[in-house]
Amino acid sequence: MDPRRIVVAVSGGIAAYKAPELVRVLTGAGHLVRCVLTREAPRFVSPLVLETLSQQPAGDDLFDSRSGEIDHIAVADWAELIIVAPTTANLIAKLAHGITDDLVTAVILATRAPVLIAPAMNVNMWEDEITQRNLALLRDRGFETVGPDAGELACGWQGEGRMSDPGVIAEAAYRVLTAPSLHGQRVIVTAGGTSEPIDAVRSITNRSSGKMGFAIAAEAARRGATVVLVAGETPLATPTGVERVAVSSALQMHEVVLRELASAQVVIKAAAVADFRPRQTSERKIKKEDLGPDAGLQIDLVRNPDILADVCREVKQTGGRQVVVGFAAESHDVIPAAQRKLERKGCDLIVANDVSRTDAGFNVDENAVSFIWPEGEIEELALLPKARVAAELLDRVEKLLGENA
Ligand code: CTP
Repeated sequence: MDPRRIVVAVSGGIAAYKAPELVRVLTGAGHLVRCVLTREAPRFVSPLVLETLSQQPAGDDLFDSRSGEIDHIAVADWAELIIVAPTTANLIAKLAHGITDDLVTAVILATRAPVLIAPAMNVNMWEDEITQRNLALLRDRGFETVGPDAGELACGWQGEGRMSDPGVIAEAAYRVLTAPSLHGQRVIVTAGGTSEPIDAVRSITNRSSGKMGFAIAAEAARRGATVVLVAGETPLATPTGVERVAVSSALQMHEVVLRELASAQVVIKAAAVADFRPRQTSERKIKKEDLGPDAGLQIDLVRNPDILADVCREVKQTGGRQVVVGFAAESHDVIPAAQRKLERKGCDLIVANDVSRTDAGFNVDENAVSFIWPEGEIEELALLPKARVAAELLDRVEKLLGENA
């Protein structure tokens, strides 16, 4: 996402200690951040910390004669988004009723930017009818919310009331800032490597962290798509708002993708599918002592189905209008090999990446890809974070959807 201007408003609750981390996440992603605090917030978090992390003055006084730098209207106009984290029950009540007795409430009433609130409070305060009514008023006015999560609360109670983690709040913020350009579209994304069992403990797999596919799924969800992420074995957390279908082998992935195809508008095959599987799988662990001393193991491998090719064939046969995108992991002759792959499989677009590079592709957060089009056009992208590659790819997918409509 291009750098955005985000105000982080902090109110006086114990969860304010997480506000600096939120600022760090946002500035780390390249966004410009300004912080405003309620009068009580400095009792929980130092404005100096927020100022240092945001590189901007952080105020808590509506009538700050000290610096004269915090003008609530200027801050309200500057913001493209206001995140209120944490949002106490008191602040929810004041915002719901238009009370502007401090800098935070004044900035929020004055802004035309969307407001995302991250409530944090004791579970009884959260569940109290008046809080819920106030919240409903805010939602009616278009306020977005993230959390609270359930768990152990700082006050000792268990239940809902924990402020969401900074990463989750940031993700919710990006969603608010992203136009819902894929709303109404069902997108299947495959990610990660498949694993083909040899015996009870051993398997053949492809090297893949799944990061590229997960980034695509996250971006598609941000753009409002219904996303089905068919993922091989990877420890990556499921992106917010994404339905994850866990698979292990290529045959399982094949079954799920072809089952989901009819109800989807887009299929993006970022998975590293193992091309071969053992003809036979032993349910028991193969013991070396049974093989004899120094004996090797011969494994008879058979070809797995080509999921992408089968998807393209099915789309053609049924006269479907799905946009189908493949990936090409190549170690040499990248572009010609990817072009042959595009033709062989018959998809709308191939994303080629050079897996021999150490700074891109496998297991790292950046990727250098080329988009290979059926008409022969090649678009070479610079080395970019995978989230950016995902956004560039989905821009192309949206264009293809527009042409298919
Ligand atoms: N793919 C697939 N099913 C397979 C193999 C690959 O759906 N059995 C998909 C991948 O998800 C990717 C594209 O096909 O979108 C290309 O995968 P890649 O591993 O680069 O190439 P292969 O088709 O396996 O060909 P080769 O290994 O010979 O390069």
